[in-house]
Amino acid sequence: MSSEFWENRYQTRDMPWEKGEPSPGLVDFLASHCARAGETVCVPGCGTGHDARAWSRAGFRVYGYDIAPSGVKLAAEWTTAAGLGARFRLSDFLRDEPPFQFDWLFEHTLFCAIQPEERERYVSAVARWLKPGGNYLAVNYLIPDTDGPPFGTTREEIVRRFTPQFDLLEDWVPRSYPNRTGLERMFLWRRR
Ligand SMILES: C[S@@+](CC[C@H](N)C(=O)[O-])C[C@H]1O[C@@H](n2cnc3c(N)ncnc32)[C@H](O)[C@@H]1O
Repeated sequence: MSSEFWENRYQTRDMPWEKGEPSPGLVDFLASHCARAGETVCVPGCGTGHDARAWSRAGFRVYGYDIAPSGVKLAAEWTTAAGLGARFRLSDFLRDEPPFQFDWLFEHTLFCAIQPEERERYVSAVARWLKPGGNYLAVNYLIPDTDGPPFGTTREEIVRRFTPQFDLLEDWVPRSYPNRTGLERMFLWRRR
C-alpha cells in the first residue's frame, strides 16, 4: 500500500488498529526482559508509537519508523508528552537503508499491512535492519483474510519465510487485545 493510502487513513481517523495502548503480548514480554546497556530497538510501521514507548519505558534505545507523516507526528508528540526518549522518523521500511543495524526489531501489524507480494521484501528488510545475532520479535496476526489490509498469514508461512535467514528461538500464544484473542502468535527469532 502507498504512503498516500496510509496517510489518508490517519487524516480521516480511519485507524481501527489504534488501541491506545501497546500490544499486550509485548507488555508481558518486556516484563521479563530488561535492556542491556545501550541496546537498540527498531519499530517499523510504528503508527502512533505505543509499542515504541513500551520499549523505551523498559530501558531500550528506541527508533520508530513509519511511512505516514501523520503517524510519525503523533508518535513524536505523544512521546514528548510522556517524557520518553524514543525517536521517530519517516521511512519506507521495505526499501530504505537503516541508519545503523539494530539489536532488536519489533513487528506488530506491519507484516499484515503490506501487500502479500511484498513479503519477501519484508523478510529481506528485517535482515538488513538487524545486526547479525540480533533479535526479531514479532506479533503475527493469524487470520484467514485475503482482502486486507490486514492480510492474514499462518504459522507455517511465517516459519517457511523466515527460517532461511533466522533461527526460531521460541513461539507462543500471547495475551491479546480483546478483539484479537486467539488470533495472534508471537515469534522470537535470532538473525544468523
Ligand atoms: C495497521 S498499522 C499498525 C500501526 C502500529 N504498528 C500499531 O499496531 O498500532 C500499519 C502501519 O504501518 C505503516 N506502514 C505501512 N507500510 C509501511 C512501510 N513500507 N514502511 C513503514 N511503515 C509502513 C502504516 O503507515 C501504519 O502506520
